[in-house]
Amino acid sequence: MHGPTTVRRGWGRRLHDEADRLSTTAAGRLELLRTQELLRRHLPPPPARVLDVGGGPGTHSRWVVEDGYEVHVVDPIPRHVAQAEQAGATAEVGDARHLAAADASYDVVLLLGLLYHLPDRADRDQALAEAHRVLKPGGLLAAAAINLHKEPLRGSIAGILATQIHDGKKAFTKAYFHTGAQLLEEVTTANFANTDVYGIEGPAWSLLAATGRHTGEPLTDSPLFESALTAARMAEPYPELLSACSHILVIGHRSA
Ligand SMILES: C[S@@+](CC[C@H](N)C(=O)[O-])C[C@H]1O[C@@H](n2cnc3c(N)ncnc32)[C@H](O)[C@@H]1O
Repeated sequence: MHGPTTVRRGWGRRLHDEADRLSTTAAGRLELLRTQELLRRHLPPPPARVLDVGGGPGTHSRWVVEDGYEVHVVDPIPRHVAQAEQAGATAEVGDARHLAAADASYDVVLLLGLLYHLPDRADRDQALAEAHRVLKPGGLLAAAAINLHKEPLRGSIAGILATQIHDGKKAFTKAYFHTGAQLLEEVTTANFANTDVYGIEGPAWSLLAATGRHTGEPLTDSPLFESALTAARMAEPYPELLSACSHILVIGHRSA
């Protein structure tokens, strides 16, 4: 799990607050915009009840609230809970594996950036079982994961490919990396139906990230950003391009 307020990101070169993760870099902004457009395609019409598990500082909750939904965040870090409340959600300290919510009480459960914090399959299964329990029949699950084949964490790629786990000793955090097929298998095993998997950032994100790192330019409002966004949209129908993305998103529904 991430430390109390900040985690070491950018491959260990600087400290980064989770609240800034999706706004300060072009790759982060691409992840945010694409997650928004994919979710808006699947969310039921507002008003509806959304449980944002591992919602962090409310980066997604903020726009989901602005779209007219009632959002509740669960996160183990008290500072994130306070930030999520400032973003317009209600929030509580809690754990995805033991949710306080009642059975069948939410229309939507978001697990965005949570599953990779649970390297053990049994913990991910438990978090998915809890999401299934609190969803109403027909309710929507949206769960994101880090793609196993994403750009290498320098010096760690061989270990990640062999074990699917990044040890987090030098950079980032201990994390589980999925393939799209595995993510689908995990949600199907948890009894979700009508599933689909999407590449979030598309095949050009690593070019955007690398250019940003080498030029020091944010590139969040640049022709290169627009091209990467267009490429992500164009790549959607081609499952073979899934493995080029940084993050993958699975959509599923609780069967009756
Ligand atoms: C990468 S952040 C994602 C935040 C936000 N959902 C987003 O997509 O920007 C992952 C969040 O999961 C939370 N987390 C880690 N382990 C958790 C657990 N067992 N149950 C609930 N949340 C957890 C962390 O505290 C962190 O806020």
